[in-house]
Amino acid sequence: MFQADYQLCAMRRKDLVAQIKQQYPKVHNGTLLFFAAYERGTMRFEQESSFYYLTGLIEPAAVLAIHLDGKTLLYLPNCRTERAKWALCDLDLSAASAKKIGVDEIVYLGDEVKGYQLFPFHDRVAYSKLLADLHADGGRTIFTLSPNDAYQYVEQRNILAHLRSYGLNVEQVDISADVARMRRTKDMKEIEYLYKAIDITSLAQEAAARAINDGVTEMEVQASLEYIMTGSGADKAFASIVGSGAHAAVLHYNENFGTMHNGDLVVVDIGARYNYYCADITRTYPVSGSFTERQKEIYTMVLDTQEYIAQIAAPGMWLSHPEHPEQSLNHLARAYLQKKGYDKYFPHGIGHFLGIDVHDVGDVREPLKAGDVITIEPGIYIPSERIGVRIEDDYWITKDGAICLSESLPKDIETIEQMVQAKFE
Ligand code: GLY
Ligand code: MN
Repeated sequence: MFQADYQLCAMRRKDLVAQIKQQYPKVHNGTLLFFAAYERGTMRFEQESSFYYLTGLIEPAAVLAIHLDGKTLLYLPNCRTERAKWALCDLDLSAASAKKIGVDEIVYLGDEVKGYQLFPFHDRVAYSKLLADLHADGGRTIFTLSPNDAYQYVEQRNILAHLRSYGLNVEQVDISADVARMRRTKDMKEIEYLYKAIDITSLAQEAAARAINDGVTEMEVQASLEYIMTGSGADKAFASIVGSGAHAAVLHYNENFGTMHNGDLVVVDIGARYNYYCADITRTYPVSGSFTERQKEIYTMVLDTQEYIAQIAAPGMWLSHPEHPEQSLNHLARAYLQKKGYDKYFPHGIGHFLGIDVHDVGDVREPLKAGDVITIEPGIYIPSERIGVRIEDDYWITKDGAICLSESLPKDIETIEQMVQAKFE
Protein backbone atom coordinates (compact mmCIF):
# COMPACT_ATOMS: atom_id res chain seq x y z
CA MET A 1 0.00 0.00 0.00
CA PHE A 2 2.87 2.39 0.71
CA GLN A 3 4.45 3.91 -2.33
CA ALA A 4 7.75 5.13 -1.01
CA ASP A 5 9.75 7.23 -3.41
CA TYR A 6 13.25 6.25 -2.32
CA GLN A 7 14.90 8.62 -4.78
CA LEU A 8 12.98 11.56 -3.39
CA CYS A 9 13.98 10.53 0.14
CA ALA A 10 17.62 10.33 -0.98
CA MET A 11 17.36 13.88 -2.35
CA ARG A 12 15.95 15.09 0.96
CA ARG A 13 18.88 13.50 2.77
CA LYS A 14 21.30 15.19 0.38
CA ASP A 15 19.65 18.57 1.03
CA LEU A 16 19.80 18.05 4.76
CA VAL A 17 23.47 17.03 4.64
CA ALA A 18 24.28 20.16 2.62
CA GLN A 19 22.53 22.34 5.22
CA ILE A 20 24.29 20.69 8.14
CA LYS A 21 27.70 20.93 6.44
CA GLN A 22 27.10 24.61 5.84
CA GLN A 23 26.08 25.22 9.45
CA TYR A 24 28.88 23.17 10.99
CA PRO A 25 31.83 23.55 8.59
CA LYS A 26 34.36 22.51 11.24
CA VAL A 27 32.82 19.11 11.95
CA HIS A 28 34.28 16.54 9.56
CA ASN A 29 33.68 13.27 11.36
CA GLY A 30 29.99 13.90 11.96
CA THR A 31 27.10 11.46 11.52
CA LEU A 32 23.42 12.24 11.06
CA LEU A 33 21.61 9.61 13.10
CA PHE A 34 17.90 8.79 12.86
CA PHE A 35 16.00 6.09 14.72
CA ALA A 36 12.96 4.25 13.40
CA ALA A 37 10.04 3.62 15.75
CA TYR A 38 9.77 0.37 17.70
CA GLU A 39 6.91 -2.09 17.49
CA ARG A 40 4.32 -2.04 20.27
CA GLY A 41 2.99 -5.52 20.85
CA THR A 42 0.42 -6.45 18.25
CA MET A 43 -0.44 -2.85 17.36
CA ARG A 44 -0.10 -1.92 13.70
CA PHE A 45 3.42 -0.59 13.26
CA GLU A 46 3.69 3.17 12.70
CA GLN A 47 6.96 4.57 11.51
CA GLU A 48 8.52 7.59 13.18
CA SER A 49 7.55 10.54 10.97
CA SER A 50 10.95 12.08 10.28
CA PHE A 51 12.49 8.64 9.71
CA TYR A 52 9.75 7.99 7.15
CA TYR A 53 10.30 11.38 5.53
CA LEU A 54 14.03 10.71 5.12
CA THR A 55 13.92 7.01 4.18
CA GLY A 56 10.43 5.98 3.03
CA LEU A 57 10.93 2.80 5.09
CA ILE A 58 8.32 1.11 7.29
CA GLU A 59 11.04 -0.95 9.05
CA PRO A 60 10.88 -1.06 12.87
CA ALA A 61 13.94 -0.50 15.09
CA ALA A 62 16.20 0.42 12.16
CA VAL A 63 18.80 3.17 12.40
CA LEU A 64 19.93 5.41 9.57
CA ALA A 65 23.46 6.79 9.80
CA ILE A 66 24.66 9.34 7.25
CA HIS A 67 28.36 9.92 7.68
CA LEU A 68 29.17 13.47 6.54
CA ASP A 69 32.53 12.23 5.29
CA GLY A 70 31.36 9.04 3.63
CA LYS A 71 28.72 6.39 3.47
CA THR A 72 25.04 6.22 4.31
CA LEU A 73 24.26 3.06 6.26
CA LEU A 74 21.03 1.44 7.31
CA TYR A 75 21.32 -0.69 10.44
CA LEU A 76 18.79 -3.47 10.97
CA PRO A 77 18.20 -5.49 14.15
CA ASN A 78 20.01 -8.81 13.94
CA CYS A 79 16.96 -11.10 14.10
CA ARG A 80 16.13 -11.32 10.44
CA THR A 81 15.76 -15.09 10.11
CA GLU A 82 13.26 -15.35 12.93
CA ARG A 83 11.50 -12.18 11.86
CA ALA A 84 10.67 -13.54 8.41
CA LYS A 85 8.34 -16.04 10.11
CA TRP A 86 6.34 -13.23 11.72
CA ALA A 87 6.40 -10.25 9.40
CA LEU A 88 6.93 -9.37 5.77
CA CYS A 89 10.62 -8.68 5.30
CA ASP A 90 11.55 -6.90 2.09
CA LEU A 91 15.07 -5.95 3.05
CA ASP A 92 18.15 -8.05 3.62
CA LEU A 93 21.83 -7.18 3.78
CA SER A 94 22.35 -7.59 0.04
CA ALA A 95 23.72 -4.92 -2.26
CA ALA A 96 20.46 -5.15 -4.23
CA SER A 97 18.43 -4.19 -1.13
CA ALA A 98 20.76 -1.27 -0.42
CA LYS A 99 20.52 -0.10 -4.03
CA LYS A 100 16.73 -0.32 -3.98
CA ILE A 101 16.39 2.00 -0.99
CA GLY A 102 19.25 4.31 -2.03
CA VAL A 103 21.80 3.67 0.75
CA ASP A 104 25.39 2.49 0.43
CA GLU A 105 25.12 -0.50 2.72
CA ILE A 106 22.73 -2.39 4.99
CA VAL A 107 24.34 -3.89 8.08
CA TYR A 108 23.26 -5.39 11.39
CA LEU A 109 22.96 -3.15 14.45
CA GLY A 110 24.78 -5.64 16.60
CA ASP A 111 25.00 -9.29 17.53
CA GLU A 112 22.15 -11.69 16.98
CA VAL A 113 19.23 -11.29 19.38
CA LYS A 114 16.54 -13.78 20.31
CA GLY A 115 13.03 -13.35 18.97
CA TYR A 116 11.87 -11.26 16.02
CA GLN A 117 11.64 -7.76 17.48
CA LEU A 118 14.03 -5.29 19.02
CA PHE A 119 13.26 -2.94 21.90
CA PRO A 120 15.28 -0.06 23.36
CA PHE A 121 15.84 -2.14 26.51
CA HIS A 122 17.60 -4.94 24.65
CA ASP A 123 21.08 -5.25 26.05
CA ARG A 124 24.22 -3.71 24.68
CA VAL A 125 25.12 -6.53 22.28
CA ALA A 126 22.03 -5.77 20.18
CA TYR A 127 23.59 -2.37 19.34
CA SER A 128 27.26 -3.33 19.42
CA LYS A 129 28.08 -2.62 15.76
CA LEU A 130 26.41 0.81 15.82
CA LEU A 131 28.17 1.71 19.08
CA ALA A 132 31.55 0.64 17.67
CA ASP A 133 31.02 2.60 14.44
CA LEU A 134 30.08 5.78 16.31
CA HIS A 135 33.20 5.56 18.43
CA ALA A 136 35.50 5.01 15.42
CA ASP A 137 38.13 7.66 14.62
CA GLY A 138 38.14 8.96 18.18
CA GLY A 139 34.36 9.41 18.36
CA ARG A 140 31.98 11.00 15.89
CA THR A 141 29.71 14.02 16.50
CA ILE A 142 26.12 12.88 16.12
CA PHE A 143 23.49 15.19 14.62
CA THR A 144 20.17 13.86 15.73
CA LEU A 145 16.58 14.61 16.79
CA SER A 146 16.86 15.46 20.45
CA PRO A 147 15.13 18.78 21.18
CA ASN A 148 15.05 20.00 24.72
CA ASP A 149 11.30 20.21 25.14
CA ALA A 150 8.50 18.31 26.78
CA TYR A 151 6.90 16.40 23.95
CA GLN A 152 8.86 15.99 20.71
CA TYR A 153 10.82 12.88 19.65
CA VAL A 154 10.34 11.26 23.04
CA GLU A 155 11.10 7.75 21.75
CA GLN A 156 14.26 8.85 19.92
CA ARG A 157 15.52 10.59 23.05
CA ASN A 158 14.74 7.48 25.05
CA ILE A 159 16.79 5.35 22.65
CA LEU A 160 19.69 7.81 22.85
CA ALA A 161 19.52 7.67 26.65
CA HIS A 162 19.73 3.87 26.51
CA LEU A 163 22.64 3.97 24.08
CA ARG A 164 24.42 6.31 26.47
CA SER A 165 23.79 3.84 29.28
CA TYR A 166 25.45 1.20 27.02
CA GLY A 167 28.53 3.38 26.64
CA LEU A 168 27.74 5.84 23.84
CA ASN A 169 29.99 8.76 24.63
CA VAL A 170 30.06 11.23 21.73
CA GLU A 171 29.09 14.84 21.19
CA GLN A 172 25.43 15.35 20.26
CA VAL A 173 23.79 18.18 18.26
CA ASP A 174 20.04 18.59 17.90
CA ILE A 175 18.89 19.14 14.29
CA SER A 176 15.14 18.81 14.85
CA ALA A 177 14.53 22.44 13.81
CA ASP A 178 16.33 21.86 10.48
CA VAL A 179 14.28 18.74 9.76
CA ALA A 180 11.08 20.53 10.78
CA ARG A 181 11.81 23.39 8.40
CA MET A 182 12.30 20.92 5.54
CA ARG A 183 9.20 18.87 6.37
CA ARG A 184 7.07 21.99 6.64
CA THR A 185 7.55 22.88 2.96
CA LYS A 186 5.71 20.26 0.92
CA ASP A 187 6.92 19.02 -2.47
CA MET A 188 4.52 18.02 -5.25
CA LYS A 189 4.56 14.34 -4.27
CA GLU A 190 3.48 15.27 -0.78
CA ILE A 191 0.72 17.52 -2.13
CA GLU A 192 -0.47 14.56 -4.25
CA TYR A 193 -0.67 12.29 -1.18
CA LEU A 194 -2.37 15.02 0.86
CA TYR A 195 -4.95 15.50 -1.91
CA LYS A 196 -5.64 11.77 -1.90
CA ALA A 197 -6.05 11.71 1.92
CA ILE A 198 -8.35 14.74 1.63
CA ASP A 199 -10.46 13.16 -1.13
CA ILE A 200 -10.95 10.03 0.97
CA THR A 201 -11.82 12.14 4.01
CA SER A 202 -14.37 14.11 1.98
CA LEU A 203 -16.06 10.85 0.92
CA ALA A 204 -16.03 9.77 4.57
CA GLN A 205 -17.70 13.07 5.56
CA GLU A 206 -20.44 12.43 2.98
CA ALA A 207 -20.96 8.95 4.41
CA ALA A 208 -21.15 10.42 7.92
CA ALA A 209 -23.79 12.94 6.82
CA ARG A 210 -25.90 10.17 5.28
CA ALA A 211 -25.66 8.07 8.44
CA ILE A 212 -26.72 10.88 10.80
CA ASN A 213 -30.31 10.48 11.99
CA ASP A 214 -32.47 10.73 15.09
CA GLY A 215 -31.67 7.79 17.41
CA VAL A 216 -28.46 6.80 15.62
CA THR A 217 -25.39 6.34 17.83
CA GLU A 218 -22.20 8.32 17.34
CA MET A 219 -20.38 5.01 16.93
CA GLU A 220 -22.63 3.99 14.05
CA VAL A 221 -21.71 7.22 12.29
CA GLN A 222 -18.04 6.54 13.10
CA ALA A 223 -18.37 3.05 11.60
CA SER A 224 -19.91 4.45 8.40
CA LEU A 225 -17.15 6.94 7.81
CA GLU A 226 -14.27 4.64 8.79
CA TYR A 227 -15.64 1.98 6.42
CA ILE A 228 -14.92 4.44 3.60
CA MET A 229 -11.42 5.18 4.87
CA THR A 230 -10.42 1.54 5.25
CA GLY A 231 -12.05 0.54 1.97
CA SER A 232 -10.13 3.31 0.23
CA GLY A 233 -6.78 2.01 1.45
CA ALA A 234 -6.29 4.64 4.14
CA ASP A 235 -5.73 4.60 7.89
CA LYS A 236 -7.14 7.02 10.42
CA ALA A 237 -4.89 10.02 11.00
CA PHE A 238 -6.34 10.35 14.51
CA ALA A 239 -9.25 9.05 16.57
CA SER A 240 -12.44 10.09 14.76
CA ILE A 241 -14.50 12.68 16.61
CA VAL A 242 -18.28 12.28 16.28
CA GLY A 243 -19.74 14.51 18.99
CA SER A 244 -23.44 15.23 19.15
CA GLY A 245 -25.41 17.50 21.50
CA ALA A 246 -23.32 18.41 24.56
CA HIS A 247 -20.42 16.35 23.16
CA ALA A 248 -20.15 18.78 20.21
CA ALA A 249 -18.74 21.36 22.63
CA VAL A 250 -15.95 19.05 23.92
CA LEU A 251 -13.00 19.79 21.66
CA HIS A 252 -11.22 16.43 21.53
CA TYR A 253 -14.16 14.19 22.51
CA ASN A 254 -13.61 10.87 20.73
CA GLU A 255 -15.33 8.30 22.95
CA ASN A 256 -18.33 8.47 20.59
CA PHE A 257 -20.67 6.67 23.02
CA GLY A 258 -23.66 9.02 22.65
CA THR A 259 -26.91 8.78 20.73
CA MET A 260 -27.97 11.70 18.55
CA HIS A 261 -31.37 13.34 18.64
CA ASN A 262 -33.29 15.79 16.50
CA GLY A 263 -32.37 19.32 17.52
CA ASP A 264 -28.73 18.36 18.21
CA LEU A 265 -25.71 19.40 16.21
CA VAL A 266 -22.99 16.84 15.41
CA VAL A 267 -19.34 17.80 15.03
CA VAL A 268 -17.54 15.29 12.77
CA ASP A 269 -13.78 15.96 12.92
CA ILE A 270 -11.94 13.25 10.98
CA GLY A 271 -8.87 12.57 8.86
CA ALA A 272 -7.69 9.78 6.62
CA ARG A 273 -3.98 9.04 6.46
CA TYR A 274 -2.88 7.97 3.01
CA ASN A 275 0.67 6.84 2.38
CA TYR A 276 1.47 8.43 5.75
CA TYR A 277 0.01 11.86 4.81
CA CYS A 278 -2.86 13.16 6.92
CA ALA A 279 -6.06 15.02 6.15
CA ASP A 280 -8.01 16.85 8.84
CA ILE A 281 -11.52 18.05 7.97
CA THR A 282 -14.40 19.04 10.23
CA ARG A 283 -18.04 19.54 9.37
CA THR A 284 -20.96 20.27 11.67
CA TYR A 285 -24.36 18.79 10.80
CA PRO A 286 -27.89 19.17 12.21
CA VAL A 287 -29.27 15.73 13.19
CA SER A 288 -32.77 16.59 11.94
CA GLY A 289 -31.50 17.79 8.56
CA SER A 290 -32.40 21.42 9.40
CA PHE A 291 -30.52 23.95 11.52
CA THR A 292 -32.52 26.04 14.00
CA GLU A 293 -32.30 29.84 13.55
CA ARG A 294 -29.87 30.07 16.50
CA GLN A 295 -27.72 27.26 15.12
CA LYS A 296 -27.69 29.01 11.73
CA GLU A 297 -26.55 32.24 13.38
CA ILE A 298 -23.59 30.53 15.08
CA TYR A 299 -22.78 28.38 12.03
CA THR A 300 -22.67 31.46 9.78
CA MET A 301 -20.35 33.26 12.16
CA VAL A 302 -17.90 30.32 12.14
CA LEU A 303 -18.07 29.98 8.36
CA ASP A 304 -17.52 33.73 7.85
CA THR A 305 -14.50 33.61 10.16
CA GLN A 306 -13.03 30.73 8.17
CA GLU A 307 -13.60 32.48 4.84
CA TYR A 308 -12.08 35.71 6.13
CA ILE A 309 -8.95 33.93 7.39
CA ALA A 310 -8.62 31.84 4.20
CA GLN A 311 -8.67 35.04 2.13
CA ILE A 312 -5.82 36.64 4.03
CA ALA A 313 -3.69 33.51 4.58
CA ALA A 314 -0.59 34.08 2.43
CA PRO A 315 3.20 34.17 2.63
CA GLY A 316 4.32 36.75 5.14
CA MET A 317 1.43 36.18 7.55
CA TRP A 318 1.91 34.04 10.67
CA LEU A 319 -0.22 31.13 11.83
CA SER A 320 0.15 32.53 15.32
CA HIS A 321 2.51 35.18 16.63
CA PRO A 322 1.65 37.28 19.70
CA GLU A 323 4.18 39.96 18.72
CA HIS A 324 2.56 40.45 15.30
CA PRO A 325 -1.19 40.26 16.07
CA GLU A 326 -2.08 42.26 12.97
CA GLN A 327 -0.48 39.58 10.76
CA SER A 328 -1.26 36.53 12.88
CA LEU A 329 -4.16 34.41 11.60
CA ASN A 330 -4.89 33.21 15.11
CA HIS A 331 -5.14 36.73 16.53
CA LEU A 332 -7.08 38.05 13.54
CA ALA A 333 -9.67 35.25 13.85
CA ARG A 334 -10.07 36.08 17.53
CA ALA A 335 -10.40 39.80 16.79
CA TYR A 336 -13.03 39.04 14.13
CA LEU A 337 -15.11 37.03 16.60
CA GLN A 338 -14.53 39.61 19.34
CA LYS A 339 -16.35 42.24 17.27
CA LYS A 340 -19.40 39.97 17.41
CA GLY A 341 -18.90 39.19 21.12
CA TYR A 342 -18.07 35.51 20.54
CA ASP A 343 -14.30 35.33 20.99
CA LYS A 344 -14.70 33.87 24.49
CA TYR A 345 -16.41 30.84 22.89
CA PHE A 346 -13.39 30.14 20.66
CA PRO A 347 -10.90 28.39 23.00
CA HIS A 348 -8.44 26.81 20.54
CA GLY A 349 -6.02 27.97 17.87
CA ILE A 350 -7.07 28.79 14.30
CA GLY A 351 -5.07 25.93 12.80
CA HIS A 352 -1.87 23.98 12.49
CA PHE A 353 0.55 22.64 9.90
CA LEU A 354 -0.53 19.40 8.25
CA GLY A 355 1.61 16.64 6.75
CA ILE A 356 3.01 13.31 7.93
CA ASP A 357 1.73 14.33 11.36
CA VAL A 358 -1.76 15.77 11.80
CA HIS A 359 -0.28 18.53 13.90
CA ASP A 360 2.77 18.66 11.72
CA VAL A 361 6.19 19.99 12.62
CA GLY A 362 7.05 23.60 11.88
CA ASP A 363 7.71 26.73 13.88
CA VAL A 364 4.59 28.94 13.99
CA ARG A 365 6.88 31.87 14.81
CA GLU A 366 8.33 31.68 11.30
CA PRO A 367 6.00 33.40 8.80
CA LEU A 368 3.96 31.39 6.32
CA LYS A 369 5.66 30.63 3.04
CA ALA A 370 4.77 28.94 -0.24
CA GLY A 371 4.66 25.16 0.23
CA ASP A 372 3.17 25.21 3.73
CA VAL A 373 -0.03 23.22 4.25
CA ILE A 374 -2.24 24.38 7.11
CA THR A 375 -5.71 23.86 8.52
CA ILE A 376 -8.10 26.73 9.15
CA GLU A 377 -10.58 25.62 11.79
CA PRO A 378 -12.53 28.25 13.72
CA GLY A 379 -15.16 27.07 16.18
CA ILE A 380 -17.74 28.37 18.63
CA TYR A 381 -18.72 26.22 21.62
CA ILE A 382 -21.55 27.13 24.01
CA PRO A 383 -22.15 24.13 26.32
CA SER A 384 -25.11 25.81 28.08
CA GLU A 385 -26.96 25.81 24.73
CA ARG A 386 -25.71 22.37 23.61
CA ILE A 387 -24.02 24.15 20.73
CA GLY A 388 -20.67 23.27 19.25
CA VAL A 389 -19.77 24.31 15.71
CA ARG A 390 -16.38 23.76 14.07
CA ILE A 391 -15.58 24.02 10.37
CA GLU A 392 -12.14 22.90 9.24
CA ASP A 393 -10.51 22.71 5.83
CA ASP A 394 -6.98 22.10 4.56
CA TYR A 395 -5.09 24.81 2.66
CA TRP A 396 -1.97 24.89 0.57
CA ILE A 397 -0.10 28.19 0.83
CA THR A 398 1.17 29.40 -2.54
CA LYS A 399 2.84 32.68 -3.46
CA ASP A 400 -0.58 34.06 -4.42
CA GLY A 401 -2.46 32.96 -1.31
CA ALA A 402 -4.19 29.89 0.13
CA ILE A 403 -5.68 27.15 -2.07
CA CYS A 404 -8.36 25.10 -0.32
CA LEU A 405 -7.46 21.44 -0.95
CA SER A 406 -10.80 20.28 0.48
CA GLU A 407 -12.96 22.74 -1.41
CA SER A 408 -15.04 20.06 -3.14
CA LEU A 409 -16.67 19.16 0.19
CA PRO A 410 -19.60 21.56 0.69
CA LYS A 411 -20.07 23.62 3.83
CA ASP A 412 -22.83 26.11 3.00
CA ILE A 413 -25.91 25.71 5.19
CA GLU A 414 -28.26 24.59 2.45
CA THR A 415 -26.00 21.84 1.08
CA ILE A 416 -25.05 20.62 4.57
CA GLU A 417 -28.77 20.23 5.32
CA GLN A 418 -29.29 18.42 2.01
CA MET A 419 -26.41 16.04 2.73
CA VAL A 420 -28.10 14.94 5.97
CA GLN A 421 -31.55 14.84 4.37
CA ALA A 422 -30.28 12.68 1.48
CA LYS A 423 -31.04 9.52 3.49
CA PHE A 424 -34.75 10.29 3.26
CA GLU A 425 -34.86 10.25 -0.54
N1 GLY B 1 -8.56 17.48 14.22
C1 GLY B 1 -8.09 17.53 15.53
C2 GLY B 1 -7.19 18.67 15.80
O1 GLY B 1 -6.80 19.40 14.93
O2 GLY B 1 -6.79 18.87 16.95
MN1 MN C 1 -7.18 20.17 13.02
